[in-house]
Amino acid sequence: MSNLKIFSEKLNISNKRIIVRLDLNVPINNFIIEDNTRIKIIEPFINKLIEKKAKIILISHLGRPKGKIVKEMSLKPIFDYLQKNLIGKISFYQGEIDNNAVNASKNLIPGEVLLMENIRFFKEEENDDENFAKNLSKLGDFYINEAFSCSHRKQASLHKITKYIDSYGGPLLEKEIQSINLILKNKKEPVTSIIGGSKVSTKVKVLLNLIQNTNNLIIVGAMANNFLKFKGFNVGLSLLEKGTEKIIEDIYTSAEKNNCNIVIPLDCIVSNNLNGSPKLKSINEITSEDMVLDIGKKTVGLINKTVENSKTVFWNGPAGYFENKDFSSGTIAIAKKIGENSQSKSLISIVGGGDTLAAIKNTDYQKLFTHLSTAGGAFLESLEGKQLPGVKVLTN
Ligand code: 3PG
Repeated sequence: MSNLKIFSEKLNISNKRIIVRLDLNVPINNFIIEDNTRIKIIEPFINKLIEKKAKIILISHLGRPKGKIVKEMSLKPIFDYLQKNLIGKISFYQGEIDNNAVNASKNLIPGEVLLMENIRFFKEEENDDENFAKNLSKLGDFYINEAFSCSHRKQASLHKITKYIDSYGGPLLEKEIQSINLILKNKKEPVTSIIGGSKVSTKVKVLLNLIQNTNNLIIVGAMANNFLKFKGFNVGLSLLEKGTEKIIEDIYTSAEKNNCNIVIPLDCIVSNNLNGSPKLKSINEITSEDMVLDIGKKTVGLINKTVENSKTVFWNGPAGYFENKDFSSGTIAIAKKIGENSQSKSLISIVGGGDTLAAIKNTDYQKLFTHLSTAGGAFLESLEGKQLPGVKVLTN
């Protein structure tokens, strides 16, 4: 971190062309933006560059078009949004990355913005193509990576481009890295990690790394079903992942070695289908017709107590099937406790993951956390202890 090149306001950017790589990969359905969190979060920085009279070139991907032009994955809806919300004039460039693109960047008036069409429409982007990266770099005098959430991708606009242009990390990227260090390096103990979601196997490396850095590891969501089954409880019709016994055994062995306390649910809300009526049960009362869809009151109480005694909390993954509000109360209760303690007890809280953000989107708690990460995969890979390719190239 110390040798990471971070964009500084001291840099004279007036009249200079600044390429900013953003992550505007937001859910869009029928050309309508369904969640604008990732856009809203970068607006202040772009507005600052506009005020400083830079010529701003924005690059982002959307979805996975695999090197082809896919109409539904155009950044046009995002362009429309930015046109309404940025303080400067913005135009949209949909052509090749050639001399025309360079001219479009040079013709910007200081304080104007140029949004490039979905960079993944070019197959060279995902191939981290040398020539393509070089051509992209010609669009600017400086490059800023403000897309921590895709920096785990070794792609031209995040990786190779930095070989050809003076490159920096942006303020949000810096904040994301600092917040990871609050868990992995400069931590205030006790540290509690609350991990939900459905797949143990995709998060196993994260869990094993977290065990070495956390005092309490609380497992919730569908992931917890595997732990309950491992402990010999009947989980009925609940979502399970096959072949996780060995992984879970390793997790318990590592937890013992590292003095990490693993917490699994004591009770749960069940139903016989995703839209059925909710019923509170203790974990030894689950029948073969039950599906575990949320954590119960006792588990919420235990989580609250653990959070109360913690100085740092990391939370990734909802506690239940939050899409149905009958099964969202566990997730909301966790958000409430973490949010409130972040305010009243100076708890350091780092909350992230796409599903977690979606689950708490309409609550007020999200404003209370120390850091709300919009990164999913990139955040988890960092927690595995990996250095992300897009970040590595920004170090001296
Ligand atoms: C994300 O949404 O996590 C990032 O934008 C990365 O997207 P990708 O998984 O398609 O590379």
